[in-house]
Amino acid sequence: MMHLTRDEEDILGGEKGAVKQKAMEILVALGDIYNAERLIPIESAQIAGVSYKTIGEAGLEYLTDLNGKVVVPTMLNPMGMDRYKWRQMGIDETFVERQLAIIRRYELLGIDAQCTCTPYYINAPRPEAHLSWAESSAVSYANSVLGARTNREGGPSALAAALVGKTPNYGYHRDENRVPDISVRIHFPLTGSDFGALGHVVGKIVKSKVPQFSFVAPPNANELKALGAAMAASGSVALFFANERAKTRETLELDRSDVDIYSSSEPDVVVLGCPHCSRLELADIARLLEGRAVSRPLWICTSRFVADRSSSVISRIEARGAHVICDTCMIVSPAFEKRSMMVNSGKALEYGPSLCNSHTFMGTTPNCIKAACSA
Ligand code: F3S
Repeated sequence: MMHLTRDEEDILGGEKGAVKQKAMEILVALGDIYNAERLIPIESAQIAGVSYKTIGEAGLEYLTDLNGKVVVPTMLNPMGMDRYKWRQMGIDETFVERQLAIIRRYELLGIDAQCTCTPYYINAPRPEAHLSWAESSAVSYANSVLGARTNREGGPSALAAALVGKTPNYGYHRDENRVPDISVRIHFPLTGSDFGALGHVVGKIVKSKVPQFSFVAPPNANELKALGAAMAASGSVALFFANERAKTRETLELDRSDVDIYSSSEPDVVVLGCPHCSRLELADIARLLEGRAVSRPLWICTSRFVADRSSSVISRIEARGAHVICDTCMIVSPAFEKRSMMVNSGKALEYGPSLCNSHTFMGTTPNCIKAACSA
């Protein structure tokens, strides 16, 4: 049983209202299941379960019954549409009305309705900070690239932690679980979206283990983002190390042919930005589009925060006929369902078939741009 402080006991006893009481019940239940000895304060929370496509009427009703306030900075995962360009995306008005009702409910809880899977571009957590984040790619990035500490939360447990400002001290919050248990050795050079392809392959093999990698050359932050997102989707990796740091019992050696999962079919649509593009990734896309014209729908997903700071790059991209959208993505929006979709992301490759009923295949970023410009 977890030890609770006097204040925590009061919340559990209902003295701070029914919503916080319910939140505390969720945290205590989790803590008891995972043998946490106490709750620890968190620096921020990030909530998944935002798109009307994924949570539907039941989710909206659940949120309508909540009336507390979060006590730590909290952001949201992508929703089902760009809040301004939804007509361009072909989203119908009923969906828009229900989606905006969900966002309003979250805002009433005191949540910052930035809808992105890259909250760390807006407010990067401090190294060693404890977090309750739900988006699996953001969890991986926070743990593995930023050195913060979060478990892979579900929507309700992240929201409960945001309302209480604490989380049970178990899993990746604790030193003893932040150690590698399999070494993955890569003896050939990789670049850009190759890291998403590698992550897709490695996630399926290592499942929920903690891999440590050795690479020919150190990956950059965008490449680590792609690697972590894909491993979190095809497996359930929440922490990895980009360098070998300890002896492990298991070793995996991969050849280039093992990670060649690219395909060159003809897509209906090309969608980039999973996870949401950084400013550098947008600049890279703008450069690849230079001197070309888009002849097949090309959509690029990013956060509104990054878009607001990349207006000249976005003008260059859109001048070529592509669309940059914010607040949403190819997987949680209904706009890309039942189409043949080309992506440069190992995560979108994993979820496109199951969550969009779409024939999804992967290419490198340059090949995606080429496909969008060659219809
Ligand atoms: Fe982000 Fe959507 Fe991919 S939430 S990580 S762009 S599936």
